[in-house]
Order: sequence, then C-alpha cells, then structure tokens
Amino acid sequence: MDFRSELKRRAALFENELGRFCSSQDAAIPARLRESMDYSLQAGGKRLRPVLCMAGAELFGAACESVLPMALAFEMVHTASLIHDDLPCMDNDTLRRGKPTNHVVYGETLALLAGDSLFLYAFETALSGLLKNGADPKRALEAVKLFAEALGPSGICGGQVLDTDRASQESRQSFVNDIASMKTMVLIRAALCTGAILAGASGKKLECLMEYGRCVGIAFQVADDILDVVGTQAEMGKTLGKDAEQDKRTFVSAYGLDGARAVLHELTQKAEDQLAVFGEKADFLRELALFLENRTR
Ligand code: IPE
Ligand code: IPE
Ligand code: MG
Ligand code: MG
Ligand code: MG
Repeated sequence: MDFRSELKRRAALFENELGRFCSSQDAAIPARLRESMDYSLQAGGKRLRPVLCMAGAELFGAACESVLPMALAFEMVHTASLIHDDLPCMDNDTLRRGKPTNHVVYGETLALLAGDSLFLYAFETALSGLLKNGADPKRALEAVKLFAEALGPSGICGGQVLDTDRASQESRQSFVNDIASMKTMVLIRAALCTGAILAGASGKKLECLMEYGRCVGIAFQVADDILDVVGTQAEMGKTLGKDAEQDKRTFVSAYGLDGARAVLHELTQKAEDQLAVFGEKADFLRELALFLENRTR
C-alpha cells in the first residue's frame, strides 16, 4: 500500500463530492447565506474527517463512495465549528485555511448563521444521501446517533465551553485532556467509526476502532497545540501563537513543549496497538497515525 497515493485518492474523491454539493442549487436558501457557507467549505483544509470516514468503511469492506454523504456531513459540521471557533466571542481569529475568516468577510451575524446552517444541513445531507445510496436504515440511524453525540453538550459544544469559560476550568494538569477529548476527539473518532458502522462493524472490532479513534483524536489536538507554538502560518493557514497570547489551557501549557511531544508519541503508539486485530488491512490507518504525529500543517 502506498500511503500517500491512498490518501490522495480519498481526498480527491471527497473534493469531487464537495464540489458537486457546492454547485448544487437550492432556491430555498438565501444566496448570501449559501455563499458564506460555501466560502468556508471550499477554502481548503486537510479533509481529515472525511478521509477517516471513508477509511472506516473500507476497513469493513465497503466502497468509499457508499459513505460519501456521511463524509460530507462531517466536513460540514467541522467547518461550522471552525467558523464559530473563530468568532470574536470565541478565539477572535482573522485567518483560517489561509483566508480571512468567515466573519471578517460576511460579518458576525452571517457567520453565526452560516455555522448554524452547516450544523443542521449536515443532518439533512447525511440522511438523504445515505438513504438514496441504499444504506441499511438501522445502521444509518446508529451512525447518525454517534454523529449527533459528537456535536452537542458532551461533544464539541461542551469542549468549547471548557476551552473558553474561565469558571468551568479546573487546575489539574489532565484537564487539557478533557478539553481535547470533547472539542476535538469525539468528532474525529465518530468520523472513523460511523464509516465503519455503515459498513457493518460491530463488537470487538468496533471497540478497537473506537479506541484507535480516541487516541488519534486526542493526539490531533496535542499536535495542534504544539504547532501553535512551533508551526508556520504559511503551512497552518491560521495565526499562530494565539494560545499563549490568550492564556489558553493547552498540552503545551500543561506539559511543556517536550512533555507535549512525549504525550503525542505515546498516544500514537497506543493508537497503532489497537489495530492488531485487523492485520494488514489496517495499514492505511497505521500510516495515518504516524503521518498525523509528524504533521506540520
Ligand atoms: C482544526 O482542525 C481544529 C482542531 C480540531 C484542532 P483541522 O486542523 O483539521 O483544520 P482543517 O480542516 O485542516 O482546516
Ligand atoms: C479546536 O481548537 C476547536 C474546535 C473544535 C473547532 P482550536 O481553537 O485550538 O482550533 P484552531 O487552532 O483555532 O484551529
Ligand atoms: Mg478554540
Ligand atoms: Mg481557535
Ligand atoms: Mg489550536
């Protein structure tokens, strides 16, 4: 397996689906709202969550194409979470995916509503697309339930509260783990596991995949925190150094740069350990964990 070409293949499949989605017409949606949603969706990004969703499906013998509506839904809600994360009331950022943030271009009100719209339109997109693709309704329901859980008060919303609300913060070192689990990990894990569930995964194998997703998901935020200190704006496409400036609780503030690197490495090893049950079928996920550990963007 050539990891880079496999990654490219999945990302290209997804970009094609996204392009189709963004050029589709829906006269019921106000033009400026649609424009602001598409602006952030098409600004680029690593497309990690869609790639994971497809990888989960392929691991259980389904074609990537069969889960494209779910993959699209993940990128929509992820993009929504970024639009909201950048708002002045949250991280107050002006650069995202190498472009001015949504609220800088469209204003705060439209940015707020574009985020809301993407969160909700994602459900419509996933459900209608999956049913059209002939997905098993029971599996689709289970997948969408996991998807919904990742977004709400015990997922992204809860995590963003822990991240931003001073009164919610606890002094213990491991609190950063709680923040990362909720704001970042649950969505990454759900992307991978909904793909697998739609392909029929269950039992012990699904449990191992959930644990892999947990490790990679937290590791992803550890790397993001590290890159906020040592990354380059050109590669990351966002203003760096903001965590320290805003006195954020991050893996770097809790463990130091070297300590955070050690946590990242340990999580990556632990993720790989979960893949033994899958044999060489999981080679893509093995390489992906390493690729994410060493990422610079
Ligand atoms: C950024 O996510 C927000 C975090 C969860 C750290 P990504 O790093 O996946 O952002 P894009 O999609 O590539 O822009
Ligand atoms: C990710 O945390 C938050 C989301 C879940 C959107 P960050 O605030 O660290 O993400 P970046 O660094 O702005 O991409
Ligand atoms: Mg944030
Ligand atoms: Mg931010
Ligand atoms: Mg960050």
